[in-house]
Amino acid sequence: MPQIVPSREDVTSLACDALVVGAHVRDDGIELSPPAAAIDDALGGRLHEALSQSGFKATTGTVHVIPTLGNLPAGAIVVVGLGSDAPVQLATVRRAAAAAARRISERHQVASALHEGIKGGERAAAEGFLLGSYRFAKYKNHPRTLKIERIVMPGADADEIARGIVYAEATTLARDLTNEPADVLTPAELADRARAAAEVGGFECSVLDETELLNAGYGGLIAVGGGSAAPPRLVRLRYAGGDAGVGVPKIALIGKGITYDSGGLTIKTAANMETMKTDMGGGAAVIAAVSALARLHAAADVVAYVPCAENMIGPAAMRPGDVIHHYGGRTTEMVNADAEGRLVLADAIARANEDEPDVMVDIATLTGHMSVALGKKIAGLFATDDELATELTAAGEAAGERFWRMPLPDDYMSDLDSDIADAKNSGSRYGGGITAALFLKAFVGPRIPWAHLDIAGTGRAESDSDDISKGATGFGTRTLIEWVEGRAK
Ligand code: BES
Ligand code: MN
Ligand code: ZN
Repeated sequence: MPQIVPSREDVTSLACDALVVGAHVRDDGIELSPPAAAIDDALGGRLHEALSQSGFKATTGTVHVIPTLGNLPAGAIVVVGLGSDAPVQLATVRRAAAAAARRISERHQVASALHEGIKGGERAAAEGFLLGSYRFAKYKNHPRTLKIERIVMPGADADEIARGIVYAEATTLARDLTNEPADVLTPAELADRARAAAEVGGFECSVLDETELLNAGYGGLIAVGGGSAAPPRLVRLRYAGGDAGVGVPKIALIGKGITYDSGGLTIKTAANMETMKTDMGGGAAVIAAVSALARLHAAADVVAYVPCAENMIGPAAMRPGDVIHHYGGRTTEMVNADAEGRLVLADAIARANEDEPDVMVDIATLTGHMSVALGKKIAGLFATDDELATELTAAGEAAGERFWRMPLPDDYMSDLDSDIADAKNSGSRYGGGITAALFLKAFVGPRIPWAHLDIAGTGRAESDSDDISKGATGFGTRTLIEWVEGRAK
């Protein structure tokens, strides 16, 4: 990862390979940002002239590179569009920085004034630069390496940069875990990676193996993991921030950790199965968020669960018609082996109730219905509490992740009525994202405000765009950090 450092130097005297500055869309053409205008002055008005001649419009994320041919210590000026917003939104800075990072990946020494005059702009720019240059290249013999070594930000606030780095590195951890192929990232390996993160971050991690899960009555994890040669695990993380967890909010986070989802005996089609190594994106977001909260010394008591299992078709696979006894005693008639995420989450939610949290949030690549409803860039948000819904939406906005609230109509639960158990795990295809959420809601303890984030659509991307790169997105990581930090204040 490139290093990001503040500097006291003036933009016009910065020596670097590429200097990134912003420009705005105005009714009568483009308007240079103050640092870009200072450079234009130093170049005798030739920057503005070159931009006008090129037809550059300064729409958000468009990039134009102009060599300085020895007229400035910077080798090239990289002008990035900031669109027409006034004031400029942090999300725009993030997008612009990410677009610039992709364009100048071959340069070694970079400087950026994109943050100038924008409160918190350093953090957003740092996130954009780091996330826009993300690549998962560990299995390539000849990776296209990123050359950027250092990004200097003149006049920047070092603390804001540091926060941006923590948010971006957490997102990167979530992406790395999620992109890892499922033959490598088995449930046991995911648990080991969580343990390693806990060791680095100095927070607690405990793991239940398949024998312990069986003995303690985690029927959902045992059923889903039954068809796999790689047995299930339940990861529990605890970060007790503030005064060792006294007088601070107690928050439970739960993330779906299905390391591969073949659909089980209700097997998926080849096309639908291809990307199912990313079905632990929610679990990855939770592990990464807790790591970041520990780094930030957030004053919150966070307990997190990641139920890990591989949904396969081995001889001991669960069969449609089986009745599952979840942790805590609720029963489920398992009628669709591809609705496996809710089965393992149910156990984890029931376990999390025992920690008596003030609030509970789960995050999961739960239903394809959510991408049909909201597309690939907006995640579904379900909540039993209006304030919690508002907080999470606002945290997402600040973090650059979009959520849209979905309803939890109690009467839809009848779609999951079972003749022989407390509920079925799947109903009709109509409102499938909603019934999945209602299934989970039945496991949440009384009076615990709860929210469910369905990231099935947003968890992976088919192409690079803005701060999102193709493959695992790490979606939700930054929202969870931002939200817990907000509660910790
Ligand atoms: N992991 C999938 C959901 C998913 C689909 C995530 C596409 C990412 C991209 C989940 O386990 C699943 O299979 N859900 C079913 C639910 C149905 C059987 C009720 C679905 O979406 O069809
Ligand atoms: Mn499934
Ligand atoms: Zn799944």
